[in-house]
Amino acid sequence: MTGATPLLETTSLTRRFGGVIAVHEVDFQVGDGELRCLIGPNGAGKSTFFRCLSGQLRPTAGRIRLAGHDITGDGPHAIARRGVAIKTQVPALFDGLSVLENVRLATWRCGSRAARRRRTEDVLATIGLARQASRPAGELPHGQRQWLELGLVIAGDPRLMLLDEPTAGMTRSEVAETADLVRRLAEGRTIIAVEHDIQFIRMVADSVTVFHQGQILTEGTVDAVLRDRAVRDVYLGHGRDAGAC
Ligand SMILES: Nc1ncnc2c1ncn2[C@@H]1O[C@H](COP(=O)(O)OP(=O)(O)OP(=O)(O)O)[C@@H](O)[C@H]1O
Ligand SMILES: [Mg+2]
Repeated sequence: MTGATPLLETTSLTRRFGGVIAVHEVDFQVGDGELRCLIGPNGAGKSTFFRCLSGQLRPTAGRIRLAGHDITGDGPHAIARRGVAIKTQVPALFDGLSVLENVRLATWRCGSRAARRRRTEDVLATIGLARQASRPAGELPHGQRQWLELGLVIAGDPRLMLLDEPTAGMTRSEVAETADLVRRLAEGRTIIAVEHDIQFIRMVADSVTVFHQGQILTEGTVDAVLRDRAVRDVYLGHGRDAGAC
């Protein structure tokens, strides 16, 4: 990223829960078109950071700017209208509705009925679920449910996508397919993905930001970050190898 205004910028962003400081004075920037991965041990504050960015949580202190606009304290709908979409760590599908109906509901930003129908078809083709369109979402196997969630995120054609653990619980081959999908979705968009899966991170990330105890520990290329002594120590301290994230 050079001197241009970052697409997203946080300044001293802080979120407390009572005595817990989940996100602590985070200064973060992501440039337009970047694909950034956020990593860090359990409880590092990654999901809380995302939920502040999407408006689901109000920051306790600090600022959030999107393309130069101050969006601090805006609610989830206002932030979604500005083109920010989130896939949360907790599934957000309507299990009793079909795959197609789930996607259609998420096309609310797309205008006319015809535009929404076209967008729904495009999304189903992109996520590879066109043949499952009439199946209840609740019947899909786990990997396909995750892809449907990605479909809901792209349905409104967001400029910034926040993906919280898009490969959680997937098999190796599903992870590789998801990495391909996310790389395709990244064309013309900015994506920030929280991930633990190193195979996925290596396949997709332009750069990596490491969270630890609510703060940014370091940022850099995938290789540089995984070689970093402090990063390895943080993971070893949590009983995990940085190589396995
Ligand atoms: N709603 C909440 N109320 C109270 N404490 C919370 C709440 N949400 C998160 N926390 C606390 O904030 C800290 C950061 O949690 P967060 O879920 O953001 O971490 P994370 O990096 O996403 O972890 P994981 O990798 O396990 O998903 C933790 O100490 C957690 O217990
Ligand atoms: Mg989390």
